[in-house]
Amino acid sequence: MPIKIGSLTVKGRVYVPPMAGVTDLVFRSIVRKVDRGCMLATEMVSSRGLMYKPECRIMDLADDEHPIGIQIFGHEPEIMAKAAIMAEQRGADFVDINMGCPVPKITNGKDGCALMREPDLAKEIIVAIKGAVSIPVTVKFRLGWDESSKNCVQFGEMIEDAGASAVTVHGRTRAQRYTGTADWTMIKEVKKALSIAVFGNGDVFEPEDAQKLLEVTGCDGVAVARGTLGNPWLIPRITKYLDEGILDDPPDSTDRLILAVEHCLGLIRYKGVRVGTSESRRHLINYTKGIHKSAPYRNRLTQVSSARDLVEVLRELVEQEAGSDGKRRFDNAIGSYDLDKIHEAQTVGIDPGHVKEAVAV
Ligand SMILES: Cc1cc2nc3c(=O)[nH]c(=O)nc-3n(C[C@H](O)[C@H](O)[C@H](O)COP(=O)(O)O)c2cc1C
Repeated sequence: MPIKIGSLTVKGRVYVPPMAGVTDLVFRSIVRKVDRGCMLATEMVSSRGLMYKPECRIMDLADDEHPIGIQIFGHEPEIMAKAAIMAEQRGADFVDINMGCPVPKITNGKDGCALMREPDLAKEIIVAIKGAVSIPVTVKFRLGWDESSKNCVQFGEMIEDAGASAVTVHGRTRAQRYTGTADWTMIKEVKKALSIAVFGNGDVFEPEDAQKLLEVTGCDGVAVARGTLGNPWLIPRITKYLDEGILDDPPDSTDRLILAVEHCLGLIRYKGVRVGTSESRRHLINYTKGIHKSAPYRNRLTQVSSARDLVEVLRELVEQEAGSDGKRRFDNAIGSYDLDKIHEAQTVGIDPGHVKEAVAV
Protein backbone atom coordinates (compact mmCIF):
# COMPACT_ATOMS: atom_id res chain seq x y z
CA MET A 1 0.00 0.00 0.00
CA PRO A 2 1.38 3.47 -0.85
CA ILE A 3 2.52 5.57 2.10
CA LYS A 4 1.28 9.15 2.51
CA ILE A 5 3.87 11.59 3.80
CA GLY A 6 1.93 14.83 3.75
CA SER A 7 1.59 15.82 0.10
CA LEU A 8 4.02 13.10 -0.98
CA THR A 9 2.89 9.56 -1.81
CA VAL A 10 5.55 6.86 -1.91
CA LYS A 11 4.91 3.52 -3.57
CA GLY A 12 7.39 1.36 -1.73
CA ARG A 13 7.54 0.51 1.94
CA VAL A 14 11.32 0.46 2.10
CA TYR A 15 13.44 3.47 2.99
CA VAL A 16 17.23 3.78 2.92
CA PRO A 17 17.71 6.38 5.68
CA PRO A 18 20.64 8.80 6.06
CA MET A 19 24.09 7.38 6.76
CA ALA A 20 26.89 9.92 7.09
CA GLY A 21 29.85 8.92 4.94
CA VAL A 22 27.73 6.42 3.01
CA THR A 23 24.52 7.68 1.42
CA ASP A 24 26.17 10.12 -0.94
CA LEU A 25 25.09 10.67 -4.52
CA VAL A 26 27.14 7.73 -5.78
CA PHE A 27 25.89 5.21 -3.22
CA ARG A 28 22.33 6.30 -3.96
CA SER A 29 22.87 5.92 -7.71
CA ILE A 30 23.97 2.34 -7.02
CA VAL A 31 20.86 1.70 -4.92
CA ARG A 32 18.72 3.19 -7.70
CA LYS A 33 20.38 0.95 -10.21
CA VAL A 34 19.01 -2.10 -8.42
CA ASP A 35 15.81 -0.61 -6.98
CA ARG A 36 13.59 2.00 -8.61
CA GLY A 37 11.04 2.45 -5.87
CA CYS A 38 12.57 2.80 -2.42
CA MET A 39 12.67 6.11 -0.60
CA LEU A 40 16.14 7.62 -0.23
CA ALA A 41 17.86 10.25 1.89
CA THR A 42 21.11 12.17 1.79
CA GLU A 43 23.72 12.12 4.53
CA MET A 44 22.98 14.54 7.35
CA VAL A 45 24.06 18.10 6.66
CA SER A 46 24.80 20.79 9.24
CA SER A 47 22.29 23.63 9.10
CA ARG A 48 24.88 26.03 10.48
CA GLY A 49 27.48 24.80 7.98
CA LEU A 50 25.07 25.55 5.16
CA MET A 51 24.98 29.20 6.17
CA TYR A 52 28.70 29.41 5.32
CA LYS A 53 28.76 26.91 2.47
CA PRO A 54 25.36 26.94 0.78
CA GLU A 55 26.66 25.05 -2.26
CA CYS A 56 27.38 22.00 -0.03
CA ARG A 57 27.63 18.88 -2.19
CA ILE A 58 25.85 16.70 0.35
CA MET A 59 22.70 18.27 -1.08
CA ASP A 60 23.53 17.35 -4.70
CA LEU A 61 20.60 15.35 -6.02
CA ALA A 62 20.26 13.53 -9.35
CA ASP A 63 17.09 13.66 -11.43
CA ASP A 64 16.25 9.99 -11.07
CA GLU A 65 16.59 9.70 -7.30
CA HIS A 66 13.13 10.64 -6.22
CA PRO A 67 11.53 10.17 -3.77
CA ILE A 68 14.41 11.57 -1.75
CA GLY A 69 14.78 13.64 1.39
CA ILE A 70 17.61 15.89 2.56
CA GLN A 71 18.42 15.46 6.25
CA ILE A 72 19.52 18.49 8.25
CA PHE A 73 20.81 18.75 11.80
CA GLY A 74 21.16 21.63 14.21
CA HIS A 75 19.25 23.18 17.08
CA GLU A 76 18.59 26.82 16.15
CA PRO A 77 15.04 27.10 14.79
CA GLU A 78 15.76 30.04 12.51
CA ILE A 79 18.91 28.50 11.03
CA MET A 80 17.19 25.12 10.66
CA ALA A 81 14.32 26.82 8.80
CA LYS A 82 16.81 28.51 6.45
CA ALA A 83 18.54 25.18 5.84
CA ALA A 84 15.18 23.55 5.12
CA ILE A 85 14.41 26.23 2.53
CA MET A 86 17.74 25.43 0.86
CA ALA A 87 16.88 21.72 0.87
CA GLU A 88 13.56 22.49 -0.80
CA GLN A 89 15.31 24.67 -3.38
CA ARG A 90 17.74 21.85 -4.16
CA GLY A 91 14.80 19.64 -5.10
CA ALA A 92 14.23 17.46 -2.03
CA ASP A 93 10.82 15.80 -1.79
CA PHE A 94 10.93 16.11 1.99
CA VAL A 95 13.19 17.55 4.63
CA ASP A 96 14.19 15.24 7.45
CA ILE A 97 15.31 16.54 10.84
CA ASN A 98 17.98 14.55 12.66
CA MET A 99 16.95 14.07 16.28
CA GLY A 100 18.63 10.69 16.66
CA CYS A 101 22.37 11.06 16.10
CA PRO A 102 24.15 9.74 19.23
CA VAL A 103 27.68 10.97 18.45
CA PRO A 104 28.99 13.24 21.26
CA LYS A 105 30.41 15.73 18.76
CA ILE A 106 26.81 16.30 17.63
CA THR A 107 24.89 15.88 20.89
CA ASN A 108 27.27 18.11 22.91
CA GLY A 109 26.06 20.99 20.81
CA LYS A 110 22.38 20.20 21.53
CA ASP A 111 21.99 18.68 18.05
CA GLY A 112 20.85 15.19 17.02
CA CYS A 113 19.54 13.03 19.86
CA ALA A 114 20.17 15.79 22.43
CA LEU A 115 16.91 17.29 21.17
CA MET A 116 15.05 14.35 22.73
CA ARG A 117 15.96 15.92 26.06
CA GLU A 118 14.67 19.31 24.90
CA PRO A 119 11.21 18.58 23.50
CA ASP A 120 10.15 22.25 23.63
CA LEU A 121 13.11 23.30 21.52
CA ALA A 122 12.55 20.31 19.22
CA LYS A 123 8.98 21.47 18.72
CA GLU A 124 10.07 25.02 17.98
CA ILE A 125 12.42 23.69 15.30
CA ILE A 126 9.71 21.62 13.62
CA VAL A 127 7.22 24.50 13.72
CA ALA A 128 9.80 26.91 12.26
CA ILE A 129 10.66 24.52 9.44
CA LYS A 130 7.03 23.69 8.77
CA GLY A 131 6.28 27.40 8.40
CA ALA A 132 9.21 27.90 6.02
CA VAL A 133 8.80 25.14 3.41
CA SER A 134 5.97 23.56 1.49
CA ILE A 135 7.53 20.09 1.20
CA PRO A 136 6.70 17.58 3.97
CA VAL A 137 8.78 17.67 7.14
CA THR A 138 9.86 14.39 8.74
CA VAL A 139 11.85 13.56 11.88
CA LYS A 140 14.20 10.70 12.70
CA PHE A 141 14.75 9.85 16.35
CA ARG A 142 15.52 7.07 18.82
CA LEU A 143 13.71 5.47 21.75
CA GLY A 144 15.13 8.11 24.06
CA TRP A 145 18.33 9.40 25.58
CA ASP A 146 19.03 6.38 27.80
CA GLU A 147 17.35 3.43 29.49
CA SER A 148 15.78 5.63 32.17
CA SER A 149 14.36 8.21 29.75
CA LYS A 150 12.65 6.41 26.91
CA ASN A 151 10.31 9.19 25.86
CA CYS A 152 9.79 8.13 22.24
CA VAL A 153 5.99 7.93 22.51
CA GLN A 154 5.50 11.43 23.96
CA PHE A 155 8.22 12.73 21.67
CA GLY A 156 6.45 11.24 18.65
CA GLU A 157 3.17 12.81 19.75
CA MET A 158 4.87 16.19 20.06
CA ILE A 159 6.33 15.78 16.56
CA GLU A 160 2.92 15.02 15.08
CA ASP A 161 1.36 17.97 16.94
CA ALA A 162 4.06 20.26 15.61
CA GLY A 163 3.05 19.40 12.06
CA ALA A 164 5.53 16.76 10.84
CA SER A 165 4.26 14.29 8.24
CA ALA A 166 6.24 11.15 9.09
CA VAL A 167 8.79 9.79 11.52
CA THR A 168 11.53 7.17 11.48
CA VAL A 169 12.18 5.51 14.83
CA HIS A 170 15.42 3.65 15.50
CA GLY A 171 14.70 1.11 18.25
CA ARG A 172 17.67 1.98 20.45
CA THR A 173 18.50 4.71 22.93
CA ARG A 174 21.27 7.25 22.47
CA ALA A 175 23.25 5.46 25.19
CA GLN A 176 23.09 2.18 23.28
CA ARG A 177 24.53 3.68 20.12
CA TYR A 178 24.55 0.50 17.98
CA THR A 179 24.96 -2.08 20.75
CA GLY A 180 22.37 -4.60 21.89
CA THR A 181 19.36 -5.28 19.72
CA ALA A 182 16.76 -2.85 18.45
CA ASP A 183 13.57 -2.97 20.52
CA TRP A 184 10.78 -3.22 17.96
CA THR A 185 8.06 -3.43 20.62
CA MET A 186 8.78 0.16 21.69
CA ILE A 187 8.51 1.23 18.05
CA LYS A 188 5.06 -0.41 18.05
CA GLU A 189 4.03 1.89 20.92
CA VAL A 190 5.02 4.92 18.85
CA LYS A 191 3.11 3.63 15.83
CA LYS A 192 0.01 3.03 17.98
CA ALA A 193 0.11 6.59 19.32
CA LEU A 194 0.53 8.41 15.98
CA SER A 195 -1.59 8.84 12.89
CA ILE A 196 1.22 10.06 10.60
CA ALA A 197 3.39 7.50 8.79
CA VAL A 198 5.93 5.67 10.92
CA PHE A 199 9.04 3.91 9.56
CA GLY A 200 10.45 1.31 11.94
CA ASN A 201 14.24 1.05 12.00
CA GLY A 202 16.92 -1.17 13.46
CA ASP A 203 18.59 -4.49 12.69
CA VAL A 204 17.01 -5.42 9.38
CA PHE A 205 19.60 -7.48 7.53
CA GLU A 206 17.43 -9.96 5.64
CA PRO A 207 14.05 -9.73 3.87
CA GLU A 208 12.49 -11.85 6.64
CA ASP A 209 13.65 -9.30 9.24
CA ALA A 210 11.80 -6.56 7.37
CA GLN A 211 8.58 -8.55 7.34
CA LYS A 212 8.97 -9.38 11.02
CA LEU A 213 9.57 -5.74 11.92
CA LEU A 214 6.43 -4.69 10.06
CA GLU A 215 4.42 -7.46 11.74
CA VAL A 216 5.69 -6.66 15.24
CA THR A 217 5.40 -2.89 14.99
CA GLY A 218 2.49 -2.39 12.58
CA CYS A 219 4.64 0.33 10.96
CA ASP A 220 3.86 1.76 7.55
CA GLY A 221 7.39 1.21 6.28
CA VAL A 222 10.80 -0.08 7.21
CA ALA A 223 14.10 1.84 7.17
CA VAL A 224 17.15 -0.26 6.32
CA ALA A 225 20.60 1.23 6.85
CA ARG A 226 23.60 -1.03 7.66
CA GLY A 227 22.06 -3.99 5.84
CA THR A 228 22.59 -2.17 2.54
CA LEU A 229 26.35 -1.76 3.00
CA GLY A 230 28.00 -3.67 0.17
CA ASN A 231 24.56 -5.19 -0.32
CA PRO A 232 22.16 -2.78 -2.05
CA TRP A 233 20.22 -5.77 -3.47
CA LEU A 234 18.76 -6.22 -0.02
CA ILE A 235 16.30 -3.47 -0.88
CA PRO A 236 14.69 -5.07 -3.98
CA ARG A 237 14.82 -8.46 -2.22
CA ILE A 238 12.86 -6.99 0.70
CA THR A 239 10.34 -5.36 -1.61
CA LYS A 240 9.76 -8.59 -3.51
CA TYR A 241 9.41 -10.57 -0.31
CA LEU A 242 6.93 -8.10 1.17
CA ASP A 243 4.91 -7.70 -2.02
CA GLU A 244 4.99 -11.20 -3.50
CA GLY A 245 6.26 -13.48 -0.74
CA ILE A 246 9.17 -14.50 -2.97
CA LEU A 247 12.62 -14.73 -1.43
CA ASP A 248 15.20 -14.09 -4.16
CA ASP A 249 18.74 -15.37 -3.70
CA PRO A 250 21.38 -12.74 -3.12
CA PRO A 251 23.46 -12.06 -6.26
CA ASP A 252 26.53 -14.20 -6.91
CA SER A 253 30.01 -12.93 -6.14
CA THR A 254 30.68 -11.85 -9.73
CA ASP A 255 27.63 -9.59 -9.79
CA ARG A 256 28.60 -8.22 -6.38
CA LEU A 257 32.09 -7.40 -7.52
CA ILE A 258 30.87 -5.82 -10.76
CA LEU A 259 28.59 -3.49 -8.79
CA ALA A 260 31.42 -2.86 -6.31
CA VAL A 261 33.64 -1.67 -9.14
CA GLU A 262 30.90 0.53 -10.55
CA HIS A 263 30.41 2.05 -7.10
CA CYS A 264 34.13 2.75 -6.70
CA LEU A 265 34.55 4.17 -10.19
CA GLY A 266 31.59 6.45 -9.49
CA LEU A 267 33.27 7.65 -6.30
CA ILE A 268 36.56 8.32 -8.09
CA ARG A 269 34.75 10.17 -10.84
CA TYR A 270 32.63 12.23 -8.45
CA LYS A 271 35.13 12.94 -5.68
CA GLY A 272 38.44 12.76 -7.53
CA VAL A 273 41.10 10.06 -7.35
CA ARG A 274 42.44 10.72 -3.86
CA VAL A 275 39.16 10.91 -1.96
CA GLY A 276 37.42 8.46 -4.28
CA THR A 277 39.94 5.64 -3.83
CA SER A 278 40.16 6.26 -0.11
CA GLU A 279 36.37 6.10 0.33
CA SER A 280 36.18 3.10 -2.00
CA ARG A 281 38.25 0.99 0.38
CA ARG A 282 35.58 1.12 3.07
CA HIS A 283 32.86 0.09 0.65
CA LEU A 284 35.00 -2.70 -0.80
CA ILE A 285 35.41 -4.27 2.62
CA ASN A 286 31.63 -4.61 2.69
CA TYR A 287 31.24 -5.83 -0.90
CA THR A 288 33.88 -8.56 -0.45
CA LYS A 289 32.62 -9.76 2.93
CA GLY A 290 31.82 -13.47 2.85
CA ILE A 291 33.66 -14.04 -0.42
CA HIS A 292 35.86 -17.09 0.02
CA LYS A 293 39.61 -16.37 0.43
CA SER A 294 39.12 -12.66 -0.21
CA ALA A 295 41.25 -11.43 2.73
CA PRO A 296 44.52 -11.04 0.78
CA TYR A 297 42.66 -9.11 -1.91
CA ARG A 298 41.10 -6.87 0.73
CA ASN A 299 44.61 -6.13 1.99
CA ARG A 300 45.74 -5.24 -1.49
CA LEU A 301 42.69 -3.04 -1.92
CA THR A 302 43.82 -0.91 1.02
CA GLN A 303 46.92 0.00 -1.02
CA VAL A 304 45.36 0.90 -4.37
CA SER A 305 45.65 4.45 -5.57
CA SER A 306 44.16 4.32 -9.04
CA ALA A 307 41.02 3.17 -10.79
CA ARG A 308 43.07 0.80 -12.94
CA ASP A 309 44.72 -0.91 -9.92
CA LEU A 310 41.40 -1.25 -8.19
CA VAL A 311 39.78 -2.90 -11.20
CA GLU A 312 42.77 -5.21 -11.61
CA VAL A 313 42.62 -6.50 -8.00
CA LEU A 314 38.91 -7.16 -8.27
CA ARG A 315 39.28 -8.84 -11.66
CA GLU A 316 41.78 -11.28 -10.10
CA LEU A 317 39.40 -11.92 -7.22
CA VAL A 318 36.56 -12.65 -9.64
CA GLU A 319 38.76 -15.05 -11.56
CA GLN A 320 39.76 -16.89 -8.39
CA GLU A 321 36.15 -17.07 -7.27
CA ALA A 322 34.28 -17.71 -10.52
CA GLY A 323 36.88 -18.81 -13.06
CA SER A 324 37.05 -17.70 -16.66
CA ASP A 325 33.27 -17.37 -16.96
CA GLY A 326 33.21 -14.87 -14.07
CA LYS A 327 36.16 -13.00 -15.54
CA ARG A 328 34.40 -12.76 -18.92
CA ARG A 329 31.25 -11.36 -17.30
CA PHE A 330 33.36 -8.93 -15.30
CA ASP A 331 35.28 -7.77 -18.38
CA ASN A 332 32.08 -7.36 -20.37
CA ALA A 333 30.59 -5.19 -17.66
CA ILE A 334 33.67 -3.09 -16.93
CA GLY A 335 35.15 -3.05 -20.45
CA SER A 336 33.27 0.05 -21.55
CA TYR A 337 34.75 2.23 -18.79
CA ASP A 338 37.53 4.59 -19.79
CA LEU A 339 39.75 4.02 -16.75
CA ASP A 340 42.37 6.58 -17.70
CA LYS A 341 39.72 9.24 -18.05
CA ILE A 342 38.20 8.26 -14.71
CA HIS A 343 41.63 8.29 -13.10
CA GLU A 344 42.27 11.78 -14.33
CA ALA A 345 38.88 12.96 -13.12
CA GLN A 346 39.07 15.90 -10.82
CA THR A 347 36.30 16.79 -8.43
CA VAL A 348 33.37 17.70 -10.60
CA GLY A 349 31.81 21.15 -10.21
CA ILE A 350 28.82 21.63 -7.96
CA ASP A 351 26.52 22.55 -10.80
CA PRO A 352 23.70 19.99 -10.40
CA GLY A 353 23.80 19.64 -14.18
CA HIS A 354 27.08 17.79 -13.76
CA VAL A 355 25.73 15.36 -11.24
CA LYS A 356 24.45 12.80 -13.71
CA GLU A 357 27.61 13.01 -15.74
CA ALA A 358 29.69 12.42 -12.64
CA VAL A 359 27.97 9.25 -11.57
CA ALA A 360 27.12 7.84 -14.99
CA VAL A 361 30.36 5.90 -15.21
C1 LIG B 1 27.78 4.80 9.07
C2 LIG B 1 26.45 5.28 9.58
C3 LIG B 1 26.11 6.61 9.46
C4 LIG B 1 24.87 7.08 9.93
N1 LIG B 1 24.54 8.39 9.73
C5 LIG B 1 23.30 8.82 10.05
C6 LIG B 1 22.88 10.14 9.73
O1 LIG B 1 23.62 10.93 9.11
N2 LIG B 1 21.64 10.51 10.12
C7 LIG B 1 20.79 9.66 10.78
O2 LIG B 1 19.66 10.04 11.09
N3 LIG B 1 21.16 8.40 11.07
C8 LIG B 1 22.38 7.97 10.71
N4 LIG B 1 22.73 6.67 10.96
C9 LIG B 1 21.76 5.75 11.59
C10 LIG B 1 21.00 4.92 10.54
O3 LIG B 1 20.23 5.75 9.70
C11 LIG B 1 20.09 3.91 11.26
O4 LIG B 1 19.18 4.61 12.06
C12 LIG B 1 20.84 2.92 12.13
O5 LIG B 1 22.00 2.44 11.46
C13 LIG B 1 19.96 1.73 12.53
O6 LIG B 1 19.46 1.08 11.41
P1 LIG B 1 20.11 -0.30 10.85
O7 LIG B 1 20.06 -1.29 11.98
O8 LIG B 1 19.25 -0.67 9.69
O9 LIG B 1 21.52 0.00 10.48
C14 LIG B 1 23.96 6.20 10.54
C15 LIG B 1 24.32 4.85 10.68
C16 LIG B 1 25.53 4.38 10.21
C17 LIG B 1 25.88 2.92 10.35
